[in-house]
Amino acid sequence: MNKLYIFTPDKLGTISPGIYGHFSEHLGGVIYDGIWVGEGSDVPNIRGFRAELVEKLKAINPPMLRWPGGCFAEIYDWRDGIGPREKRPVRINWWHNHDHRYEPNEVGTDEFIFFCRLIGAEPYIAANITSMTPLDIRDWIDYCNTPNGITTYAKLREENGNPEPFNVKYWGVGNETWGGGGNMTPEVYAHEYRKYATIMSNTDPTIKLIGSGANSIDYSWTKRFMEIFASSDKIMSYFSLHYYCGSSGHPTEFTVDEWYQLLSQAAGIEYCLRRHWNYICGFGMERHAKLAIDEWGAWHPEGSGPSKGYNLFEQQNTMRDAMIAALTLNIFNNNCDKVEIAAIAQLVNNLHTLFLASGHNLITTPTYHIFDMYKGHQGGEAIRTAVDKNEDITFKNPNNGRESHIPKLSFSASIKDSKLTLTIANLSHDTSEVLSLEPIGIKLADSAQIGILTHTDYHAHNTFEDPENVKAEYKTADISDGVVTVPAASIVAITVDIV
Ligand code: AHR
Repeated sequence: MNKLYIFTPDKLGTISPGIYGHFSEHLGGVIYDGIWVGEGSDVPNIRGFRAELVEKLKAINPPMLRWPGGCFAEIYDWRDGIGPREKRPVRINWWHNHDHRYEPNEVGTDEFIFFCRLIGAEPYIAANITSMTPLDIRDWIDYCNTPNGITTYAKLREENGNPEPFNVKYWGVGNETWGGGGNMTPEVYAHEYRKYATIMSNTDPTIKLIGSGANSIDYSWTKRFMEIFASSDKIMSYFSLHYYCGSSGHPTEFTVDEWYQLLSQAAGIEYCLRRHWNYICGFGMERHAKLAIDEWGAWHPEGSGPSKGYNLFEQQNTMRDAMIAALTLNIFNNNCDKVEIAAIAQLVNNLHTLFLASGHNLITTPTYHIFDMYKGHQGGEAIRTAVDKNEDITFKNPNNGRESHIPKLSFSASIKDSKLTLTIANLSHDTSEVLSLEPIGIKLADSAQIGILTHTDYHAHNTFEDPENVKAEYKTADISDGVVTVPAASIVAITVDIV
């Protein structure tokens, strides 16, 4: 029987809870009718925020929430989103060319922070460096973080109902500065970064800055940026990477080859992050720039969500998307010495989404259940794992007709509070895997908590009409013989006491 080894003496580092972060942009239905329904809505809400979503989100321990974009961040003036809501201006949203929607500014900084507090997440504000000056961003930090009663902005915050500082720790210095965020070269951005970082960190030396990094496999971005950054004061905590895997086929009606092709593209994130990391280390910057993969996920053609295309980028989410989330989170766990922040894009009514919502309807997607099953990893000590045999699955890449391969199994393990969490994804669409656990250096209890996300059809997804078609099942099981079965196209999470 295939053995899965858990090498407890071989610790890979601490899994930063920030790896399990989320992203909410003022885009399509993410904010409006997504997390926000408004105080006057008959949809149950907590000061305007959708109450059911708050409860369900809290249950998966979201560590961090990135806002207000994305591309939207680069035209956002934070002053538009404070003060009495009825007086706030309506602006042209970054995305209006796509969906003809305008930004009402009902959700601004105070509301965002309130939402983060409700769900127990650290706020991550992506600051606009394309169309705002360093002084504007200084003022935003001042508004958020200066103690009560000292500055004019701290007093304004108090007038707006929040005397206590927000203490926002994570600040992004631009977004996708190679694209929507200013169309810069890495050299130009490196100089801009140094300027903004100097002012921002001087305003509040306790904040952690996130530099805007590469688009996927653009390794030269990292190399050219680091060349200039390395000769500066090195004010940075994280350097970002955005990695989407895209399918040209249908989000819910795909072939077996399309299943494997997309999983294989998703798995490519490991090679990608390691190469970027090599450039960071190559310039001796590893202490200054851990990776923040603050946009990741599957990006399908539009129109498959419940709004039928009204909400820009809204897409359905099947067992394939859950599998992508599972294998990506395993990769992050196994590379926790390099990746400290990540944010799946995006939280609701959008790309690789955890929720779909409209009016009174709210459903969780298969991907939501992965975050629930994996939450035990947050803050755990990652442990090296290996199997005797990780079978290579052969498929025909639908994009180029070539024969391609992908390993059948993806897995990761961690230890926290004398408990082992082990997550295993079986990528095979039709063959189950029986594994014999081989813990090295520890003894496991006979009884374990097992969570499983599976379905007879790997195209399965949830709809407003059938909201629980795909959901994780949890049970207590006897694992004294060490044998675990992972059905085809499913994900298993095991939590067991170390005795
Ligand atoms: O997540 C959607 C968009 O994708 C974001 O606004 C942008 O940063 C990325 O290109």
